[in-house]
Amino acid sequence: MQAKVRVKESFEERLVRMLGREEYGEFLSAVAKRGKKCIRINTLKVDRGKMVKRLEKRGWRLEKVPWFESAYWVDVDTKTLSLSIEHALGYFYIQDAASMLPPIALQPKKEEVILDLCAAPGSKTTQVAQMMENTGAIVANDYSLRRLAALRGNVQRLGIVNCVVTYMDALEFWKCGLKFKKILLDVPCSGSGSVINCWRIFEEWSLGIVRRLSRYQKDLLRAAVKCLDKEGVLVYSTCSLEPEENEEVVDFAIRELGLEVEETKFRGLKFREGLTSWEGKRFHDDVSKAVRIFPHDNLTEGFFVCKLVKK
Ligand SMILES: C[S@@+](CC[C@H](N)C(=O)[O-])C[C@H]1O[C@@H](n2cnc3c(N)ncnc32)[C@H](O)[C@@H]1O
Repeated sequence: MQAKVRVKESFEERLVRMLGREEYGEFLSAVAKRGKKCIRINTLKVDRGKMVKRLEKRGWRLEKVPWFESAYWVDVDTKTLSLSIEHALGYFYIQDAASMLPPIALQPKKEEVILDLCAAPGSKTTQVAQMMENTGAIVANDYSLRRLAALRGNVQRLGIVNCVVTYMDALEFWKCGLKFKKILLDVPCSGSGSVINCWRIFEEWSLGIVRRLSRYQKDLLRAAVKCLDKEGVLVYSTCSLEPEENEEVVDFAIRELGLEVEETKFRGLKFREGLTSWEGKRFHDDVSKAVRIFPHDNLTEGFFVCKLVKK
């Protein structure tokens, strides 16, 4: 039997406008069912095949996530996962499968130097480190000491040695004069895509908060672009479903900051193009190259990912 989810009228009304009444029903049943639990096997410490066998031996059923080699959906609750010895030893990281998309879009390579400007608690930082095979350098920045403590713990647990942790205001980071060819900007957001894992978000959601965040996200993007090299790539992402936090910010990046959008492809992912209009506002056509995912598309969190290039 599915649990009853209480949804704010204003939120429901927007989602119905985005999806239509029928598909909104699919969204609600996915949220009531909850997202699929997912782990990323940490190949910096263990062999993927051996770890799969070890976890299957104890009765866990693993199903491959098509868009990331080391990612598996597991039929085990979060408490069991987080209390397992393999988790404590950093053999795997618990991460929603959609949260793995921004690093995939960034395509970090061995020996590169990458800035992760809003990095804590480090889900994507640790994934980037894994993709770089612990070479090169990641500057992982955040301005919350509490969240940075979690990031440091994760970096250490996963055996990452290519990560420099900085405690700076992202709005001012550019003042240190460093430039990067690749930047991950996973901004603070309303989190409405995470409702599938956290129903509380339905209660906290308000249009006022969304609008305030949208302005802040544009400020963060403007500041991040100052740290980006010419021809450099910046991946912008949120776990929000709100066009103000997603398409509107990308439209701002194109029109005000002169960035270009590059298409990104993800293997086996169900997704939609970025919206080109919302509430009477028309966005730049290239905003459609962004990737928008609803929770009911893949039974993951909802996410928005856009790859931006400085020409
Ligand atoms: C969506 S979370 C990042 C999640 C992280 N990328 C991950 O994958 O684990 C956004 C982060 O931005 C940080 N943040 C917000 N405003 C900031 C600022 N002005 N400077 C630095 N960090 C900031 C918050 O503390 C929060 O940790």
